[in-house]
Amino acid sequence: MKIAIIGAGNMGGAIARGLAKGTLVNEEDLIVADPSKRMLDALQLEHPAVRVTSDNEEAAQNADWVVVAVKPWLMEQVLGSISWREDQVLVSIAAGVTFAQLAGYTRGVVLPMFRVIPNTAISQLESMSLIAGQGVTAEQEQLLLDLFDEMGLAMKVTEAQMGAATALTSCGIAYVLKYIQAAMQAGVELGLRPSDAQRMVAQSVKGAAALLLNNETHPAVEIDKVTTPGGITIKGINELEHAGFTSAIIRAMKASS
Ligand SMILES: NC(=O)c1ccc[n+]([C@@H]2O[C@H](COP(=O)([O-])OP(=O)(O)OC[C@H]3O[C@@H](n4cnc5c(N)ncnc54)[C@H](OP(=O)(O)O)[C@@H]3O)[C@@H](O)[C@H]2O)c1
Repeated sequence: MKIAIIGAGNMGGAIARGLAKGTLVNEEDLIVADPSKRMLDALQLEHPAVRVTSDNEEAAQNADWVVVAVKPWLMEQVLGSISWREDQVLVSIAAGVTFAQLAGYTRGVVLPMFRVIPNTAISQLESMSLIAGQGVTAEQEQLLLDLFDEMGLAMKVTEAQMGAATALTSCGIAYVLKYIQAAMQAGVELGLRPSDAQRMVAQSVKGAAALLLNNETHPAVEIDKVTTPGGITIKGINELEHAGFTSAIIRAMKASS
C-alpha cells in the first residue's frame, strides 16, 4: 500500500514519522510533499527510505491513499491541483472541512474519503485520533483505525459528532495543559521548583489517564478512592466546585465545539 502525505507540518510531519515507525507500512512506500525543503530534509534525515518531493501531483500519482494535511483554507487549491483516480482513498486532516466540501474539490472524481482529526500528541505517538468515513469500505475503515492506533488511540465517529469530539480531544489537550500550568503555579507558591512541579503534575495526569484507559473504570470511582471522609482531597475538590470548575469545563467544551 503506497501512501502520499501532502503537507509535512505539525500534523503531516508527525503522521509521516508515525507511519514510518509503525509496522503496517513500509518506509519506502511513503512519499511526502511539502514546499519547504527544510521540512523534507529533516524528515529524510530521520527516515532516509521515505521519498520526498515538492510536487504534490508527483506524490499523489502512484499513491493508493493520499493524506492531505495542509491548512483548511488551502484544501480547495491543493485537492483541485491533483489528477485523482477513482481507486484512490482521500484522507483529509483539515479541521472543519466537510465531506461535502471535499467532494467539491476533487475535480468531479468520486473518492472514498476519510476525515481524521488527530491531536498534537501524535508527535509522541499518543494522539487521540477521530476518524469519520464517507463511501468507504469496512476494510478501508479498519485499516485506517489500525494505522492511527499505532500513533495513539483511534476512534470512529460520525461527521455530525466531529465538532463535539474535536472539542474534547484537539482543544481538550490544551485544557489539560492549562490545568498542568495552573497546578504548577500552585506548586511554585507552595515552595516547589517549577521543573519539579511540572514533572509531578504531568506524571499525575498521565497516571489518571492510565487508570481510566487501562481499567475502563469511571472517574467517580477513582476519585472515591482518594477522598477520605474529612480528608484533604475532598476539601480541595469542593473548593474546585465552589469556584465553578465543572461548569467552566463544560462551558469551555461547548464554546470550542
Ligand atoms: N494542530 C492541531 O491540533 C490539529 C488537529 C487536527 C487537525 N489539524 C489540521 O491539520 C492541518 C495541518 O495543520 P498543521 O498544524 O500541521 O499545519 P502546518 O504545521 O502549517 O503544516 C502545513 C504544512 O503544509 C505545507 N503547505 C502549504 N501549502 C502547501 C501546498 N500547496 N502543498 C503542500 N503542502 C503545503 C506548509 O508549508 P509552509 O509552512 O511552507 O507553508 C506546512 O509545512 C490543518 O488543516 C489543521 O486544521 C490540526
